[in-house]
Amino acid sequence: MSVRRRTLLKVIVLGDSGVGKTSLMNQYVHKKFSQQYKATIGADFITKELQIEDRLVTLQIWDTAGQERFQSLGVSFYRGADCCVLVYDVNVLRSFDTLDNWHEEFLNQANPPDPKTFPFILLGNKVDIDGGNSRVVSEKKAKEWCASKGNIPYFETSAKEDYNVDTAFLCVAKAALANE
Ligand code: GTP
Ligand code: MG
Repeated sequence: MSVRRRTLLKVIVLGDSGVGKTSLMNQYVHKKFSQQYKATIGADFITKELQIEDRLVTLQIWDTAGQERFQSLGVSFYRGADCCVLVYDVNVLRSFDTLDNWHEEFLNQANPPDPKTFPFILLGNKVDIDGGNSRVVSEKKAKEWCASKGNIPYFETSAKEDYNVDTAFLCVAKAALANE
């Protein structure tokens, strides 16, 4: 008989306000999408159970406020993270340009034992908009950024159309598990 171990993995989702962090999590965990924007205030987590090979994994996914004035909880909860998900909007250049800051800020505050191998995942969200005609960041450019940070996995997603959301979070879970 195989013995199943339950593992709790902590994941932090970061990125500019409005890129779709909350929407991606809602689509992944509750299979729901809302057009309405409601800014996240502070930080909160939701959990999702999944099985990866013979492991039962509980993903504790922390949603955070992109708007600075709502970052009231500080960043102490970054500590102990097993994976960090960075999100930008492929239609908003600024949200891509700030990725360096989010990446650096996370490493500074979470202070993982080995920053060079700490698992990040990048999501380029809202690829559904205008059939892709209004995008300003190409997949190539995003992948170059990922390569420059030590080969971060990259997924293009749509929280609205549930495109690549499960696939991306499965990669997150596996990366977190490998880091455990
Ligand atoms: P903060 O909480 O302020 O940091 O923002 P956030 O990153 O959580 O963004 P949120 O998920 O609230 O989404 C912002 C807006 O974008 C909402 O109106 C969503 O409906 C919309 N949105 C999110 N994801 C998508 C997507 O994939 N496609 C489209 N078309 N709209 C999206
Ligand atoms: Mg939010």
